[in-house]
Amino acid sequence: MKVISVVGARPNFMKIAPLIEEMRQVSGIEHLLVHSGQHYDEQLSASFFSDLGLPKPDIQLQVGSGTHAWQTAEIMKRLEPVLIETKPDVLIVVGDVNSTMAAAITAAKLLIPIAHVEAGLRSFDSTMPEEINRKLTDALADLLFVTEESGVRNLRNEGIPSERIFLVGNVMIDSLLRYRSLAERSGILKELGLVDDGGHPRPYGVLTLHRPSNVDDPRVLRVILEAVATVALELPIVFPVHPRTQERIDRFGYGHYFATNRRESAESGLIPTKPLGYLEFLCLTDHARLVLTDSGGIQEETTALGIPCLTLRENTERPATIQQGTNQLVGLDPDKLVRTSRSVLKGDYPKGRRPPLWDGHAAQRIAKILLQYLRAKE
Ligand code: UD1
Repeated sequence: MKVISVVGARPNFMKIAPLIEEMRQVSGIEHLLVHSGQHYDEQLSASFFSDLGLPKPDIQLQVGSGTHAWQTAEIMKRLEPVLIETKPDVLIVVGDVNSTMAAAITAAKLLIPIAHVEAGLRSFDSTMPEEINRKLTDALADLLFVTEESGVRNLRNEGIPSERIFLVGNVMIDSLLRYRSLAERSGILKELGLVDDGGHPRPYGVLTLHRPSNVDDPRVLRVILEAVATVALELPIVFPVHPRTQERIDRFGYGHYFATNRRESAESGLIPTKPLGYLEFLCLTDHARLVLTDSGGIQEETTALGIPCLTLRENTERPATIQQGTNQLVGLDPDKLVRTSRSVLKGDYPKGRRPPLWDGHAAQRIAKILLQYLRAKE
């Protein structure tokens, strides 16, 4: 039985890792890993492969960056001959990036069954490219593996037959639980001057920002950076900067929001760093007093770790992180961001709990269902 997984961007890697590990343990499954090359920087791609013990991709499509249509089309063009030649019994895609959707469309036209891991999430906001990717991928998938109850409801409402939908939990949290203790040894807190003389973490916050709606408009980005800089007067905030965001900060001349020297920055200020590796970022999040983010995955990781998270978006496709976890939406209201951050620092935030099935065994459940599916097809 031949299984092909296609990954392409940073948030795919920690989702595929536990699945590959599970499939390795099943005899009779030949697995091939395809990397689209959507992310290609060492910090966004290769470092994740080594942190997560991922095998080297069997096939690299090396598409690189481009507009949405260009990137999607280029992945499809380069993946099609691979699928024709290898004839997989099933194609696995994870998450909601352009590589996810491009691979799903390519496989569907070749009548290759598709398994979508992290299906059913909906922000109901079509201005997000990921929402389009999610809806199209789910419409084409044969097996839809869902992380939270809302996903099951969304898929049923879209007319997906119940027998294709499986609530299995969260593979990204499988990786988080597996690597949490290893991440402790990353040394990143020391490197950033965030430990005191006794070797204990000092209080600090974390910011991540990469969504086009937050970073592409100079006014929006300025409002966010000003609000975060206000919070950073009271708590140093570490900011691993995505390349897209760095480019905008340079272009708009916003470097002055950053703390200038290390001594000052350990006490307060917005501290920029390069994008961090998986283990470094996990360690950083695990000891933070507060996380500010516009990422999807980080809303879930903070909920799993019990760390308060303020999401700089008007909506979320991951409502379990609000209803059950530690996440709060602050939108783009700077006063709300500052006010809510201060409340969190006083200890006033939802303490939350881990949603059902976010227990480290999602990949195991998926592998079992996949195997049954493949055997039934034989
Ligand atoms: C992509 C995903 C997004 C995910 C994010 C995580 C889509 C539509 N978006 O967004 O859902 O949350 O990854 O990071 O798939 N660049 C580099 N080096 C790289 C890759 C990109 O410098 O290795 C720069 C390029 O200038 C590129 C820009 O970043 O144009 C954006 O990259 P792209 O992959 O298009 O989208 P992300 O913003 O990373």
